[in-house]
Amino acid sequence: MGVNCRRRTMPFVGTLAVLALATLRGANAQDTTNATCLSNYSFLYNSKGQSPCLVAAYVAGVCNGGQFNVPALIDGAHYTGPLTSDANNCLCSSIFYCLMSACGLCQNGPVITWTDWTKNCSTVYLTVYPENIPSVTAIPAWAYVNFSVRIFLYIFRFIMSRFLFHGHAALRSISQQDPTTK
Ligand SMILES: *[C@@H]1O[C@H](CO)[C@@H](O)[C@H](O)[C@H]1NC(C)=O
Ligand SMILES: *[C@@H]1O[C@H](CO)[C@@H](O)[C@H](O)[C@H]1NC(C)=O
Ligand SMILES: *[C@@H]1O[C@H](CO)[C@@H](O)[C@H](O)[C@H]1NC(C)=O
Ligand SMILES: *[C@@H]1O[C@H](CO)[C@@H](O)[C@H](O)[C@H]1NC(C)=O
Repeated sequence: MGVNCRRRTMPFVGTLAVLALATLRGANAQDTTNATCLSNYSFLYNSKGQSPCLVAAYVAGVCNGGQFNVPALIDGAHYTGPLTSDANNCLCSSIFYCLMSACGLCQNGPVITWTDWTKNCSTVYLTVYPENIPSVTAIPAWAYVNFSVRIFLYIFRFIMSRFLFHGHAALRSISQQDPTTK
């Protein structure tokens, strides 16, 4: 997808609360989320009908023994990148960052930049998910976008403009194409 991103002011809402990503080790032995996307963001779901929040949980769980919880975003908060102690191939992949940004966005929350997301990552994977994708999920094509150091939100404006001007069919082909290659 030949998308050029451009800088956009971050839409911080209310208090600048930071919601740490909760990796619930030893809790439920599965990848879960209780984040709920607003219905008008259904175009961000994958071909298996999973929300970006659930796909993100699956994608992160691979590096965490198959256990990762993406909590619902509380008002005014945004998702943050990994702590130094949690940084791994999954959390430091732009695929996961894109999914988490979509997860925040679909709850009407703000997103942070890739640069901020990866502050604690010693190795970053831009446009690459360096692990095997669990067969239970599928990663939407838009999560592979190379936004470089720019802000992710522009992607959604792009998708939305397609949605508004070119109709549902065109959108579906963009958002629900799950690439088999990385
Ligand atoms: C989501 O789950 C977490 C922990 O399990 C809980 O603290 C939180 O209240 C839940 N949020 C919603 C919106 O259900
Ligand atoms: C979705 O709906 C919410 C609340 O109704 C609104 O604030 C948001 O801008 C809408 N987003 C899109 C992409 O339509
Ligand atoms: C980096 O990790 C530290 C603790 O190790 C944490 O306090 C900080 O919030 C993290 N930074 C980001 C950008 O997530
Ligand atoms: C991403 O885009 C930048 C700037 O356009 C380019 O320099 C870089 O090589 C690209 N990276 C990947 C992994 O495609």
